[in-house]
Amino acid sequence: MALEQIDKETLVLASKKVMENSYAPYSNFKVGAAVLCTDGRIYCGCNVENASYGLTVCAERTATFAMACEGGRKIRAIAISSSTGKPVFPCGACRQVLAEFAPAEDDLYVYLASDQGVLTYTLAELLPHAFTLIKT
Ligand code: THU
Repeated sequence: MALEQIDKETLVLASKKVMENSYAPYSNFKVGAAVLCTDGRIYCGCNVENASYGLTVCAERTATFAMACEGGRKIRAIAISSSTGKPVFPCGACRQVLAEFAPAEDDLYVYLASDQGVLTYTLAELLPHAFTLIKT
């Protein structure tokens, strides 16, 4: 089995497991995400909602921020699972956050888990022309 395939299955499983910890009493829409760092480490996150709805943070961002807090800076791939059993595409804000940590434009894989299987995209497909801050 190709290394990439192993990574994909491992990541998807990790995203499903962390989804169990999702705190979503308002939407009942549970999401789990697992990020594979270029150094091989995996970081997990789930959506965490709040009574003040706008303070809710998506699973993709909690996973990405967990990685950043441990010193990770480049994401090879992210797997996303949801309680709907259907593929959940990362929201626009999460796409921009992922772009911050992409090794190169076409190099960050996004795996969307569902009961039917796993869809694979690159971040560049989901967020062409991401915003970058050019410092002079
Ligand atoms: N949510 C995520 O965790 N990731 C996404 O990409 C889309 C939405 C969460 C936020 C909220 O807790 C719930 O799903 C419904 O919007």
